[in-house]
Amino acid sequence: MSKRDTRYVCLRIAGEGGEGVISAGELLTQVAARLGMHVATFKTFPSEIRGGMAVYQLRTGPDRVLSQGDYLDILVAFNREGYDRNIADMTSEGVLVHDFEPGDNLPVKRRGGVDYHVPMGKLAREAGSHRAKNMVALGAICELFGFPVEGLTEGVRLKFGKKSEKVVEVNLKAIDLGAEYVRENHEIRHELHFSEGDGHARVVLSGNDAVAFGAVAAGCRFYAGYPITPATEIMEYLARELPRVSGRMVQAEDEIASIAMCIGASFTGQKSMTATSGPGLALMSEALGLASMAEVGLVLVDVQRAGPSTGMPTKAEQGDLNLAIYGAHSTAHRVVIAPVDVEDCFYQTVNAFNIAAKYQIPVIVLSEQSLGFSKASMPRPDFENLDVFEEQYARMPTDGDPWPKVDELTVGEGYPMTPVFPRYLRNDTGISPRSIPGMPGMEFRATGLEHDEFARPRYDPPNRKAMLNKRQAKFEEVRREYGEQVEVIGDDEAEVAITGWGTTAAVIRHAVTRALNDGASVKAIFPKILSPMPDMAMRHHLHGVKRVICCELNDTGQYANIIRHRYGANVHAVLKDRGVPFAPGEITPYIEMAIKAQVRI
Ligand code: COA
Repeated sequence: MSKRDTRYVCLRIAGEGGEGVISAGELLTQVAARLGMHVATFKTFPSEIRGGMAVYQLRTGPDRVLSQGDYLDILVAFNREGYDRNIADMTSEGVLVHDFEPGDNLPVKRRGGVDYHVPMGKLAREAGSHRAKNMVALGAICELFGFPVEGLTEGVRLKFGKKSEKVVEVNLKAIDLGAEYVRENHEIRHELHFSEGDGHARVVLSGNDAVAFGAVAAGCRFYAGYPITPATEIMEYLARELPRVSGRMVQAEDEIASIAMCIGASFTGQKSMTATSGPGLALMSEALGLASMAEVGLVLVDVQRAGPSTGMPTKAEQGDLNLAIYGAHSTAHRVVIAPVDVEDCFYQTVNAFNIAAKYQIPVIVLSEQSLGFSKASMPRPDFENLDVFEEQYARMPTDGDPWPKVDELTVGEGYPMTPVFPRYLRNDTGISPRSIPGMPGMEFRATGLEHDEFARPRYDPPNRKAMLNKRQAKFEEVRREYGEQVEVIGDDEAEVAITGWGTTAAVIRHAVTRALNDGASVKAIFPKILSPMPDMAMRHHLHGVKRVICCELNDTGQYANIIRHRYGANVHAVLKDRGVPFAPGEITPYIEMAIKAQVRI
């Protein structure tokens, strides 16, 4: 087994909801990123406002952090429960920073490692407020692990300045007291240290921020949504940013109204987006059919959470794949894309807008709770060279009759003898000329009814078949354009392949990289787009493969079933359905077993 790369360090803060775990983690993340460290975070908390266990995890390293890894090196436990529920994840030589009275009879004993007791609550009260317990912890962390306190000071001013100057003062004092306590009461007994940053400050974004940022960069100027965990941050970001670029954010009365508004805005030529989670996607599915039928492009982001219904709104799951791809009555084409990490959230959202505009089709971006809430550092996007598709609307022909006359159209009697804009013109690509309201001579009516090339309701069998074929042709164009977009890493000749989507793909990449370093013969295959599946490329890369491992965060193997049924592959599904993402170490044994032909297919 490959040696652990100790340049990557993972720190977890655990405490009760309301104790400021999340604020502490986010401040520390900002400091690390400003020092030029690569960072990736994970947070989880209960759906209640106070109480329950809140956890924030920060993993840093000298290079891009692929996943949360397998090892917890530092646990900062704000209370006994934080210790009890997390200590089992820590390596035996890990460092514990805790707020229990020394001598407490801890129910879970450690077998090694270094402990530092810091009376966080007591020092916070000395600083002036029990709320500042988290800042005492940060002061102690800085002192123990060599983070510069100055970075924190600036962060505290930014975060709490809005509350009051007194709050800032109390928190700054708490940081000092935490650092001082460590200096005066502890000798540094651990060897673990964070790798130094390269001094290049990086952008730190959550997956939700990156989606919203990508939307603005792609030209989105209209957003309508209804708040829902874990997608609300997208709306909050756009409420702030869209007005700055003359865009609009509307908080609608529900999800159905949200997507309907987006359809209306897109119809008038605005690049539009809505974001929701599984329950919202379920509500939106009928209107998605309208967008599909009327050929109106828009972007719908689903930040998946564990369901069904209200389920576990703050926990992770990849349970909406079937709903995203098939959640429609009849044939309602939509494109489905799943970003794998925070940086990908930015670029795939841009991509989604490009596809929506070019192909006049709804595009679903399948994000996830653990991605939406996670922060990671990424290089600043190169806006100059960002590929943004700008739609060209139809133009009036300059000579002759502008459009065919109605009597040439073999449509029933009673229509006026006027030229009619062929909004749904059939051609090789299925992409028809589009006009927007206000373009003279190119008016048309778009409805959810089946129609002919001239947008007029028409139900005869030949027309139905022709229009279905037209929409399918457009979908096939997407498949053709993105058909080669499959990422493959590893041994091309391997008999064992592993595949997954969304955040699980990032964890698989981590596990496969390690397996390859150990000399294993395996390849990882990641389709960039989940609907339409890039069939040709998938078949090509699965050719000769004897066993396929499919990993995903749901309990029925939605993706595994697609791979099994579409490609006839021998699939072993590795499923996790407890509301938390995979760790690479959970995937590694399946790769090993598949290589030894020990997995059950
Ligand atoms: N000094 C002053 N205020 C502080 C502080 C300090 N040192 N540390 C934290 N706070 C404030 C934060 O600013 C925050 O206030 P805000 O709500 O006005 O922004 C508050 O205390 C909570 O701190 P935070 O660090 O953000 O969270 P936490 O780790 O204590 O956990 C949550 C609390 C996030 C679990 C909980 O409040 C919550 O919101 N739960 C989620 C609810 C939800 O989304 N449910 C889904 C329903 S479908």
